[in-house]
Amino acid sequence: GIMRKFIVGNWKMNGTSSDLSEIEAIATMSANYKTSVDSALCLPATLIDRATSLLPAFTLGGQDCHMQVSGAHTGCVSAAMLADAGATLTLVGHSERRAGQNESDADIRGKAAAAHVAGLKVIICVGETLEERDAGKALDIVLDQVQKSVPDNAASDWLSIAYEPVWAIGTGRIPEDSDVAEMHGAIREQLVARFGIDGESMSILYGGSMNGDNAAMLMAIPNVDGGLIGGASLTAAKFEPILAAA
Ligand code: G3H
Repeated sequence: GIMRKFIVGNWKMNGTSSDLSEIEAIATMSANYKTSVDSALCLPATLIDRATSLLPAFTLGGQDCHMQVSGAHTGCVSAAMLADAGATLTLVGHSERRAGQNESDADIRGKAAAAHVAGLKVIICVGETLEERDAGKALDIVLDQVQKSVPDNAASDWLSIAYEPVWAIGTGRIPEDSDVAEMHGAIREQLVARFGIDGESMSILYGGSMNGDNAAMLMAIPNVDGGLIGGASLTAAKFEPILAAA
């Protein structure tokens, strides 16, 4: 398995210039763990340029990108723009975008490919709804998302997966260990079947109500190579115990 954990904070639609001091506190704190853990923050696009200027050594990412480089797409941000602002990675396909912006697996695959062309690392998010889990369809739904969202040229040096059960996001509920183990194991099998040995090296993160109390347990599960953290990434005080557990 992958020994070095990857811990990524997702600030979602939170943060203005008054939060730069907290971002700096998170970067300073994270530097204390960098010999053992890779960490990053995915910020609102509006903050990336200033945060990069302030913290050039800290890994910053976007939360989404358009699949075109430029053009008539009012309100959208391209991967090239994220990279130009200083981002070195981006999320794509977060469930809040799949649901709220009607993003399809094909859209997400296009975004991931565009982000790679722009030189960004990419985290593709997948996950089932509670209705899908209760219907016994979680594995099928998630494996289908992985199959259709991950580009054919994916490689472990730029592509990670984040498994986030939709019903665990922001709810304080997390799945049973055995369900996480089953899902991550199935995703791993699919990546290895498709990408061969390199599939062994693609990080598979868990996301959904991860915090300082449950992080060690979650990251001890086979094939859990790190975390994608929302609420508990908003302050250095809440984020630090997760890095310490990694
Ligand atoms: O991208 C992060 C996830 O949606 C998890 O959010 O840690 O607030 O549950 P949460």
